[in-house]
Amino acid sequence: MSAAHDKKFFNTFMLVLGVLILIALGLWALARVVAVDTQEANVHADPAMQAAVNDRIAPVAKVAVSGQDNSALAPAKPQAAAPAAEIGGEEVYNMACVACHGAGVAGAPKYGDKGAWGPRLAKGGDTLHKHAIEGFQGQAGFMPPKGGRVDLSDKSIMNAVDYMMAAAK
Ligand code: HEC
Repeated sequence: MSAAHDKKFFNTFMLVLGVLILIALGLWALARVVAVDTQEANVHADPAMQAAVNDRIAPVAKVAVSGQDNSALAPAKPQAAAPAAEIGGEEVYNMACVACHGAGVAGAPKYGDKGAWGPRLAKGGDTLHKHAIEGFQGQAGFMPPKGGRVDLSDKSIMNAVDYMMAAAK
């Protein structure tokens, strides 16, 4: 390795480095030219972007100060649950009852099985309505309240009971 050889290498190396720096600056200038009209309007002032930023920089907690109007701090009231609509018996049965009563699972009286339903029909419709809505622990097993679908209205469950009773008469 001679000193002249080193010098030649150093010069070439610096030349390449310089060219790369020029290319990088050129690309940066080109990007500015392309984005100068669009970046502000399409990125920085985009409402979605603004909202995202506001969301990120929002304080994690708010302090209610006594003697001031703190109504803005009140947690949003949960939407009042819409009164459960009344649904027809067959539909409710297929949604909530067929899982057990369709095949007679776990002691459930099977749909249309007159032998299994006979003694139950004898209790009267009101009792069966009550047992279906509130749940019932009998000899055969446990009937969960509303078949587990407590979101359904009482009337919907009664419709399903009537639907099953009609099939067992
Ligand atoms: C997880 C299973 C299961 C689901 C779901 C289910 N039941 Fe039952 N149901 C039972 C069992 C088990 C019995 C029998 C309880 C006993 O007499 O020991 C029963 C009994 C009944 C009885 C008779 C109660 C009595 O007093 O003899 C009615 C009426 C009834 N179910 C209605 C319904 C209705 C309506 C639905 C749907 C909304 C439903 N069940 C969903 C398991 C279920």
